[in-house]
Amino acid sequence: MAQLLVVDDDRSIRRTLEKFLSEQGYRVTTAVDAVDARKKVELETPDVILLDINLPGKDGLSLLKELKSEGGLPPTIIISAHGDMRTTIQAIQYGAYDYLNKPLDIEKLKITVRRAVESAELSKNLRHFVAEAATDYQIDNIIGKSAAIREVFKAIGAVSTTKATVLISGESGTGKELVARAIHFNSPERDQPFVAVNCSAFSSGLLESELFGHVKGAYTGAVSDKDGRFRVVGSGTLLLDEIGETSLELQVKLLRVLQERTFERVGDNRPVPLQARLVAATNRDLPGMIRKGTFREDLYYRLKVVEIRLPALRERREDIPLLVEHLLAKINLNLHKRVKYVPDETMRILVGYDWPGNVRELENALTRAVVLSKGEILEASALPIFPGEGAPPSPGDREPELTRLKDVERRHILKMLARTHWNKKRTCELLAITRPTLDKKIRDYGLRPDMQVSTPAGTNG
Ligand SMILES: Nc1ncnc2c1ncn2[C@@H]1O[C@H](COP(=O)(O)OP(=O)(O)OP(=O)(O)O)[C@@H](O)[C@H]1O
Ligand SMILES: [Mg+2]
Repeated sequence: MAQLLVVDDDRSIRRTLEKFLSEQGYRVTTAVDAVDARKKVELETPDVILLDINLPGKDGLSLLKELKSEGGLPPTIIISAHGDMRTTIQAIQYGAYDYLNKPLDIEKLKITVRRAVESAELSKNLRHFVAEAATDYQIDNIIGKSAAIREVFKAIGAVSTTKATVLISGESGTGKELVARAIHFNSPERDQPFVAVNCSAFSSGLLESELFGHVKGAYTGAVSDKDGRFRVVGSGTLLLDEIGETSLELQVKLLRVLQERTFERVGDNRPVPLQARLVAATNRDLPGMIRKGTFREDLYYRLKVVEIRLPALRERREDIPLLVEHLLAKINLNLHKRVKYVPDETMRILVGYDWPGNVRELENALTRAVVLSKGEILEASALPIFPGEGAPPSPGDREPELTRLKDVERRHILKMLARTHWNKKRTCELLAITRPTLDKKIRDYGLRPDMQVSTPAGTNG
């Protein structure tokens, strides 16, 4: 019978867990704080620990770290009321088995405990040690408390201590670059460079020389030797952003780099070892591209040793108020403004809107509203998505059902183009998309300046 240790200073939680887990067939002991827990770990060598973070005296994370450094850490499930990015990543890095948030979901608890017990049994023979934990590092916080974003925090914690290649996918503006940075700055190589290359910003040939470097005379214009980003990044992290935009020719070359962990400068055939961790990001549907023959399947599998999928903002609306608070503080600081109050009406519109450009679009919308707001109140009417401005519908002002997403997107892009008098730069800002993306959409939808913005029946948009 597996032995569990429940550590929580809250007596009613201890009791509830003890009762519930005993009914599940485990032997359960409890501890009220870190000192008590240490004693019981020594006396009873539990197979699995359930550990609260907020304990009087020494907190749960410190205890976790201590047990880990002494090599006596059984699978430990962290239970906490605040699953913010830093604590979650730290807990996983310190060797926590999993992270559960209060209030506890009983089904999830059951499954997690069962898995932890299985894992304890497995590792009785095979002890594995996770690399030493990272210490605090100041990075731009990834904000959110939804279940979906918490899974992302866990994934960052798990991959950051490895050198595995990571593929980050998600719609534009969901925070792919932010996650790539978080992986880097939580890794043991955080003092090494973080280098991002936007693959869509270069022609195929230029991108090759940008990544691989070249020797003098490799081609016309190569007047001297040049180090590529594979070299410059050293043993840091290289983000290949918008990997879906690379040519098939370059994809072959990238595949070789990943297979052989070496690269060659253009015009030179001496292989140089690749020290860096590669992270790739894309907002494209790579499996779909593979079917169409525009992305190599073998490269795809090499890239997604670990895949982190970022949820769209509309799939985690409960995070919007938190993000608004965070982004407003950031914008106020940058613009020397003091827009601090968000009326319910404004928040209702912000939470109800679908945010096709995700967090980036939210940030842009708030920036514009802050600029336009005179006092300390964020006026709904200053938002580019304010229904009264003829922008997207608010929740009570629905599109007719069964409208295809494509139609909505086409109409919205055309509307924004019309509003900016076809100023593409401005339109990109409003839509929070890149210029190549906008150009592609204009082509795909066959948009022209002489087109009328049609409105669907039933809305005044
Ligand atoms: N969860 C989040 N918390 C706080 N800020 C966020 C979050 N997600 C995104 N952001 C902010 O939104 C903006 C867009 O994020 P980022 O550039 O990482 O997105 P992306 O997915 O790389 O977008 P694109 O596909 O357009 O390149 C950045 O200013 C970033 O700081
Ligand atoms: Mg990006």
